[in-house]
Amino acid sequence: MNRTFRIETFGCQMNVGDSELIRLSMVKNGFMEAANPGDADICIYNTCSVRDNAEKRVLAKISTAKGIGVAKKRLIVVAGCMAQRLGEELLKKKVASIVIGPYQSPRLGEILSEFIKNKKNRLFISQENENFAERLTPELLENRDVEPWHKWVTITHGCENFCAYCIVPYVRGKLISFPSERILKFIQELADSGVIEVTLLGQNVNQYGQDAGDIPFHKLLAKTASIKGLKKINFMTSHPMDFNEETIHVINDNPNISRGIHLPMQSGSDRILKAMNRKYTTAHYFSIIEKIDKIIPDYAVSTDLITGFPGETTEEFNETLEAVKRIKFDEAFMFSYSPRMGTPSYSMKETISEKEKAARLHELISVQREISLEKLIKRVNNREIVIAEKVSKKSGTEVAGKTFLNHPVVFSGDINDIGRETIVEISEVRGSTLFGRKII
Ligand code: SAH
Ligand code: SF4
Ligand code: F3S
Repeated sequence: MNRTFRIETFGCQMNVGDSELIRLSMVKNGFMEAANPGDADICIYNTCSVRDNAEKRVLAKISTAKGIGVAKKRLIVVAGCMAQRLGEELLKKKVASIVIGPYQSPRLGEILSEFIKNKKNRLFISQENENFAERLTPELLENRDVEPWHKWVTITHGCENFCAYCIVPYVRGKLISFPSERILKFIQELADSGVIEVTLLGQNVNQYGQDAGDIPFHKLLAKTASIKGLKKINFMTSHPMDFNEETIHVINDNPNISRGIHLPMQSGSDRILKAMNRKYTTAHYFSIIEKIDKIIPDYAVSTDLITGFPGETTEEFNETLEAVKRIKFDEAFMFSYSPRMGTPSYSMKETISEKEKAARLHELISVQREISLEKLIKRVNNREIVIAEKVSKKSGTEVAGKTFLNHPVVFSGDINDIGRETIVEISEVRGSTLFGRKII
């Protein structure tokens, strides 16, 4: 069989990072990325399990790909979180020939070579391999074709917080922090080879080092910021339970750390937060925002919110609305509660209908949309530092990127603007995007 492949990535940035590892291990093992994705011999789906619709979407894509591939026998590989959750079931239902959990991402090329050599029919490999050394591989430095100026750097794998609704601890396993020395050496090498922006990734970056007795997150962040050549450092996700004042000071003291802080609140009701096992109160959340406000002159806060958690009353939902109005998030990612089998909240009784859940979500979205717009309008006439990420497909004469507060921005430009720092004067807001003109 020919050995061309394509990777489709779903879910969060952890998966984006893992897909880079998959690509690297495929290339190392002699596979080639298909020039035209529709022609690939091997289709790899790096999947997400966080909500039911995330799984449904990928299952639908796979069945379409199989339909298209009937003339030419395709090998379907399901990797990532849904692979871990459903495992053998995906083989039994003949969804895929190979199913591998997230730990195995850096080994997929080897696993596939063996699989093809041994002419196996079906294979499921879970996350029994806990060797993390391969994950910060120096070869990643060479694989810089996607965004040569930017790199996702996973600093922890897994999560042990067991929020009541969340599947992640079950599919990603326990918290494992990479040694800080290796992370910093890796980022130094990235910077030496021209990378100007990095994003430190973990499900709760503020827990970094706790499992291994390594330096705490704010020290890792400060050391990263002191690496010469880095112009923008992002990090996600922060958890209100562990986000501390030291981190706020490190952000303020280092102009190359992004001022866009992602701090998921999930709910504005203390009773719901407790039922979610989030381990903080709304008062604590507000106190963090007040500290940020006192210490950092210009910043943005984004969040995640869930509507319709089991037992959420109208009053409790209204508390979320009130909290959103009080804090005025720059952006919020809002979700309707999706029960995940195996999580503690799966057995909690849902008290509202799907329709009502969706209605709450829509109400929340419309309140937040107004606030986001208000926040964007405040940026008009400002000069913002922007790293452009892509040329607009529609016009070809505009580029899109993010400001230092992580607001989306579009300005006139071309391929030469991509991946470098630009000063943009903001002139207007259209939809949920800032528009401006390049100054330098
Ligand atoms: N580690 C991050 C979140 C990772 S999952 C944190 O602790 O904030 C991303 C978001 O998906 C969560 O913040 C939550 O808002 C949402 N989410 C997770 N499980 C969900 C579920 N079962 N139903 C609806 N939304 C969910
Ligand atoms: Fe899930 Fe909670 Fe861990 Fe985030 S902190 S990944 S929401 S269990
Ligand atoms: Fe989804 Fe796994 Fe990320 S479940 S949100 S891809 S950690």
